[in-house]
Amino acid sequence: MIQFEARPGILDLSWGHPRPELLPTAEWGVAQAGALRASGWRALTYGYAAGPHPLTDWLAARLARIEGGTPQPESLFVTAGASHALALLASLLVEPGDVVLVDEPTYHLAFQIIADARAELRSVPAGDPAAVAAKVRAIRAEGRRVAFLYLVPTFANPTGRSLEPAARRALVEIEGLTVVEDDTYRELVYEGSAPPSLWHLAGGRNVIRIGSFAKTVAPGLRLGWISGTPGLVNRLASLGYVHSGGGVNHTTAVTMAEFGTSGAYDTHLARLRDAYRAQRDALVGALSPYTSIMRPAGGWFLWVTMPPGRSAVDLLPVAERQGVSFVPGPSFHLRGDGGHDRLRLSFSLLPPDDLAEAAARLIVALG
Ligand SMILES: Cc1ncc(COP(=O)(O)O)c(C=O)c1O
Repeated sequence: MIQFEARPGILDLSWGHPRPELLPTAEWGVAQAGALRASGWRALTYGYAAGPHPLTDWLAARLARIEGGTPQPESLFVTAGASHALALLASLLVEPGDVVLVDEPTYHLAFQIIADARAELRSVPAGDPAAVAAKVRAIRAEGRRVAFLYLVPTFANPTGRSLEPAARRALVEIEGLTVVEDDTYRELVYEGSAPPSLWHLAGGRNVIRIGSFAKTVAPGLRLGWISGTPGLVNRLASLGYVHSGGGVNHTTAVTMAEFGTSGAYDTHLARLRDAYRAQRDALVGALSPYTSIMRPAGGWFLWVTMPPGRSAVDLLPVAERQGVSFVPGPSFHLRGDGGHDRLRLSFSLLPPDDLAEAAARLIVALG
């Protein structure tokens, strides 16, 4: 029934999935009943192409409150999650022969989504904007187009890191480069506030932002969004399947609007931040005596460096025999040719005690 496969005896730090007890089962039920009471049959018919106004109005106001600026509901298009948002953008922006640049390392499951649109993927370290600009120039010199650059600049998957402010500003100033900013983890912030989005820095110019309610509410909702220019939103809203089927995932979007406007989202998010902060601290605390670890200020992941000369791929079967699993670093490199000494550990799925035990097993595996 579900994607997650439990493996007996293994504390699995490889999944970027929420802890089941933190899913808002009862609260979502209340929101569903409230949405049906408030909107009646309108909650159950075909939806407005760009997404129902109760959701886009609430979301635009929320994004403006987090980052400043004026709410722009007309810049939003509701999708079936961030993965769907990226698939839609790739299908719209990629023309035959185009190259798409992807950050390195980055969210590995984005590679296939972009490749499905028949783009040629090439990697570049997005933290080095001069290298990005040089790569863009080199690709243009081959007579080819760069359709866009994909990156997760805030509380990244897999590193937990956020791009430096200077690099953010320099990236959005690269002439003619469209940036697709995957902002999935912005709201899962545990200290201070998240850095400004590239979207915000660029005033919406040349940057398209994608977001998701998968991590902040529930993955099963299949609900996310794209912010782009009104022109891009119109192109998305004019797609054949939207014309035929109406706004994406309409009933869930209407329920999400109720979940947001009723205050349930804020209450839930505060609970999530406390819980995931404690989970992060349990894993970082248990591993720190053995290896130096950057404590990410948000998101779900630790990016651990192994002792010199050790291979993460070779460690995996040893670790699984000890009863712990993770994703080896090369998975997050386009050609699997980097990150050999890195492990991605997700602290989202397990409670603090299990995370401490998982760390103890990993330390035994590391010898
Ligand atoms: C960076 C990033 N983008 C997108 C997704 C998938 O988002 P969704 O479930 O909304 O499709 C994930 C989930 O792991 C992610 O880490």
